[in-house]
Amino acid sequence: MIDLQSLKALIDGNKYKVTILSNASSFLYHSIENLNWLGFYILNDDTLYLGPFQGRIACIEIPKGKGVCGNTILIDKPLVVDNVLEYPGHIACDSNSRSEICIPLHIEGKTYGLLDIDSPIFNRFDESLKNELIEASKIIEEALEKAI
Ligand code: SME
Repeated sequence: MIDLQSLKALIDGNKYKVTILSNASSFLYHSIENLNWLGFYILNDDTLYLGPFQGRIACIEIPKGKGVCGNTILIDKPLVVDNVLEYPGHIACDSNSRSEICIPLHIEGKTYGLLDIDSPIFNRFDESLKNELIEASKIIEEALEKAI
């Protein structure tokens, strides 16, 4: 279980977006078992740029429409991939990844970027974890809205 109250207490009222994303990435990464990467991509001019994360080094730019992340921006809703090896166009930043979830983040109705999480096991992101991560994303969005 993700301690959503502690997440809110950690990031709410932080002045800078980068501070919020940095601590949120660490908090979430260490709250969930069986992950190998968790981080944020920020959207600018139809390209996603790497933001704060936990895990091995990752792709720095992903065009809208490419990979799991770029497709999440296109559909503008959470995307779960149970087996990334079968996902056409999956971008393998870490060859250990087997399943993935991407959740778009919005600020004042506009797409800001996304939360991307990889697991080294298949089918890691079931309905219950997905819903918890959607709740965590809402807390992150609320904190980002008030930050610069
Ligand atoms: N797998 C993603 C790329 C980002 S990494 O997982 C950190 C994708 O297919 O878009």
